[in-house]
Amino acid sequence: MPDFADHSDPSGSLQWPLPQPLPAGGAPLRLAVMASGEGSNFEALVMACAEGRLQGQVVVLAVNRDGCGAQRRAERLAIPCQVFDHRRQPSRQALDQALIALFRAHRVDLVVMAGWMRIVTPVLIEAFPERLLNIHPSLLPSFRGADGVAQALAAGVTLAGCTAHLVTEEVDAGTILVQAAVPVLPEDDRQRLHARIQRQEHRILPMAVTLAAQRLAQG
Ligand code: GAR
Repeated sequence: MPDFADHSDPSGSLQWPLPQPLPAGGAPLRLAVMASGEGSNFEALVMACAEGRLQGQVVVLAVNRDGCGAQRRAERLAIPCQVFDHRRQPSRQALDQALIALFRAHRVDLVVMAGWMRIVTPVLIEAFPERLLNIHPSLLPSFRGADGVAQALAAGVTLAGCTAHLVTEEVDAGTILVQAAVPVLPEDDRQRLHARIQRQEHRILPMAVTLAAQRLAQG
């Protein structure tokens, strides 16, 4: 029987029964991560690989903010990182083309948008069909778009959460891979709730990568 309670999390977060992270088979997945901010999800993926919870390797990080937390984590973790300042790109498509060139050079199997705060275009989505994932801090399809945590608080829901999903042209609307639910506590503000949601993001994102790889293997 699956265990419905997340006993590992003393904050009392709820957790749906989650798929076990099964090996995708064959060679380790070559993963690219895209990040704009702190990079805690990027590091969670690196650690999942290091600890054998994900049969993969994060081979490159792309960031769009020079000096962001994710970039500093990449330095500490000795993972190649490239900065793509979106303000220096002539268009969203040009930024996506530059990302594709980086990912192809690193022979990447899957790309994970882990706090990438730019809208991607069909140029990137079509270059990695079924291979581009995103993590979003809400239980989709609720609270798509900017600041899903603030949207959940404003709506007064009692359950918030996070979703790992495939990326399609419509924002935050692709196939859902894994979700986790987190109770909204009376004393929560945006920061506290987001911190608890992020702990669940760090758990489900490696699982979602495995699931995406399994979907590809099954055709
Ligand atoms: C995460 O909570 C992620 O869900 C969110 O940004 C945060 C990045 O944190 N993404 C979005 O809101 C995308 N719409 P991190 O940089 O510490 O991984």
